Amino acid sequence: MKNYLKIERLIQPFKKKISVEGDKSISIRWVLLSLLSKKKSTAYNILKSEDIKSALNCAKKLGAKVKLYKNRCEIKGIGFKNEFKKDLILNAGNSGTLGRLILGFLVDSKNKIKLIGDQSLSKRDFSRVTEPLQKFGAKFYINKKKLPLVIKGSNSPKSINYFEKKGSAQCKTSIMLAALKSKGQTKIKAKKSRNHTELLFKHLGIPITVKSKRNFDYISVKNTNQIKSLNYKIPGDISSCSFFIVLTILSKKSELLIRNININPSRLGIIKILKKMGASIKIINSRSYNGEKIGDILVKSSKNLKSINCPVKYNSSAIDEFLVIFLVAARAKGVSFFKDLSELNKKESPRLIWGSKILKLIGIKNKITKETIKIYGNPNLLINKKIIIKNFLKDHRVFMMSAIAGLTFGGKWQISDKNSINTSFPSFLEKLQYLEQ
Ligand code: S3P
Repeated sequence: MKNYLKIERLIQPFKKKISVEGDKSISIRWVLLSLLSKKKSTAYNILKSEDIKSALNCAKKLGAKVKLYKNRCEIKGIGFKNEFKKDLILNAGNSGTLGRLILGFLVDSKNKIKLIGDQSLSKRDFSRVTEPLQKFGAKFYINKKKLPLVIKGSNSPKSINYFEKKGSAQCKTSIMLAALKSKGQTKIKAKKSRNHTELLFKHLGIPITVKSKRNFDYISVKNTNQIKSLNYKIPGDISSCSFFIVLTILSKKSELLIRNININPSRLGIIKILKKMGASIKIINSRSYNGEKIGDILVKSSKNLKSINCPVKYNSSAIDEFLVIFLVAARAKGVSFFKDLSELNKKESPRLIWGSKILKLIGIKNKITKETIKIYGNPNLLINKKIIIKNFLKDHRVFMMSAIAGLTFGGKWQISDKNSINTSFPSFLEKLQYLEQ
């Protein structure tokens, strides 16, 4: 079967209701925390994507019993056991979150364990977690900060004090998982980032305190030796939702209601940024679920979009959404500026560079540095040429951004690596089809 997507016309006006698949960050955290409990945990609406399959495979290799049904997943975990099969190799696939988080879990592993990943993950920096985990006492065998690596845990990991400066929830969570297994109290001063782990720890009754200040969170976690089962209904992923939000904003005479989405404030950057740009988005029916917030998102076609000088305070809460936000900046009147975005080039592909390349291909002037992008919007942009997108390290978000650009700006597109969506949003194309019916 051909592994590319062709888009040859604009999407027609639509008025529909959809839902999207379960949140990826929460799904991976659910797997690892269920692994850490000896009891049976159940998750409904877990994301069934390749990243989660990699997580479930790792959990199985570490000794968990995993059952994946049509509507739920069950894990009977291993508790705080730290002796595993000899010569174990864990494969994190494409998932930076899984690769980084699982190393925190292994901080006390008695055996050496090898961690590998796919081509994209093997280009990414792992020193951001190996460095703090070494402070706990774990040893690493690693070359040039990249996978593959081998971890040998400490016999008695010691708690640490750590300043997490990047605003990386992956680093923060890796340290928090290691803290559970380390004697004493680990203290983290963390630049703001998504806080699903903190909320799940609280929900599980794990000894944690969090003091939120303007730019940083002060988190302390005490060691423990058992945790409860984690039964959870995973809400929809706002990062998947973002492609449909932008599709609707940039389409003519359209309206979309997206139901049951995780609207945790630490993930709401896209909504705040797009509203400032004049987009018509409303959150309705908001409710609480085990510390998380859930709501429905109502979005409408939006004319007269304004450029933005994007406040850096939104960066971490929109980090996975910038590519589609750049498309809105392309349609907006005026010059938009996004800064302090060096982290964006450290994702599944160098996304700041890819964002800039795609904007250039569609005729939008832009200037990038290592950490900023200036986008010269054109409210009248309509493309009338052939555009081929390939060799983007199979980055699912580059693929989906390109599809949305094709459907809203026109042109004849051929976008390769269609199956890249399987890492985070396998039903992306089906949902698009549904809107086109
Ligand atoms: C994630 C955190 C973010 C995000 C990633 C998922 C998580 O990465 O880009 O897709 O689940 O913790 P960083 O924490 O490295 O910014």
